[in-house]
Amino acid sequence: MSENLSQHNGPDHIGIIMDGNGRWAQAQGLSRIKGHRQGVETCRRIIDACQDLNVHYLTLYAFSAENWNRPEREVNALMELLELFLMKETKLLVKQKVRLHAIGRLEELPAKPRRALKKAIEATKNFKEWHLILALNYSSRNEIVDATKAIAEKTAKGNLSPENITWEMIAANLDTSGLPDPDLIVRTSGETRLSNFLLMQSAYAEFYFTSTCWPDFTKAHLEEAIRVYHNRERRFGRTGEQLDVEASLSR
Ligand code: IPE
Ligand code: IPE
Ligand code: MG
Repeated sequence: MSENLSQHNGPDHIGIIMDGNGRWAQAQGLSRIKGHRQGVETCRRIIDACQDLNVHYLTLYAFSAENWNRPEREVNALMELLELFLMKETKLLVKQKVRLHAIGRLEELPAKPRRALKKAIEATKNFKEWHLILALNYSSRNEIVDATKAIAEKTAKGNLSPENITWEMIAANLDTSGLPDPDLIVRTSGETRLSNFLLMQSAYAEFYFTSTCWPDFTKAHLEEAIRVYHNRERRFGRTGEQLDVEASLSR
């Protein structure tokens, strides 16, 4: 089955809103933190699955800028888990030739996970084919604010006139600069919202929502999401008929 799916066109970039760790844990009488620990296991499983399924870019929403509002104990546990994940994961990423990237206001992360992140990014920086992007202290709105400030500074210095501002220029100032837009956004746990994840970049992404909580999410679930994606028609503003004509011409 993986074979067939991996031969299809795309998705080349999947973004995942990994949700439901807390509810998964609570449903079995465990602490929310145990749910997060289990969620980390799923990350490893899905990184492997992406290579099997020929998905070159995987963006995982690991911690939103709004998640600082959780109880301190939970935030601390998440930061510790992040550090442990990075320390453990680096060797495997190198072995699998996966380049690690991070998006979000990374300078606001605690020193320990920030150091581990820097090391992992450095250790994998020369890989070209496979990419894992962690969204950490990420918020699309913050990202837009930061990009706007950078562009405004250029205009204030007289290096750029406002009429020359283009979407490409804005995109180049986002944290995701240099990365392709996501083709497919998956959210687990039954919630059907974006929670500030890749708002601009997913302008033409397909969305897949599943009630499965992140700790239970497997390669089979990812394959199902990809199957659904293959049955969608991405029109990018054009008509279905136009796409049919183009497809017959390219055959
Ligand atoms: C997602 O699971 C993990 C993070 C946001 C870090 P949650 O912790 O949001 O789980 P629920 O939504 O409370 O079940
Ligand atoms: C979104 O999940 C953030 C991550 C998955 C890291 P949340 O659980 O924080 O989102 P809301 O608060 O339910 O929208
Ligand atoms: Mg949640």
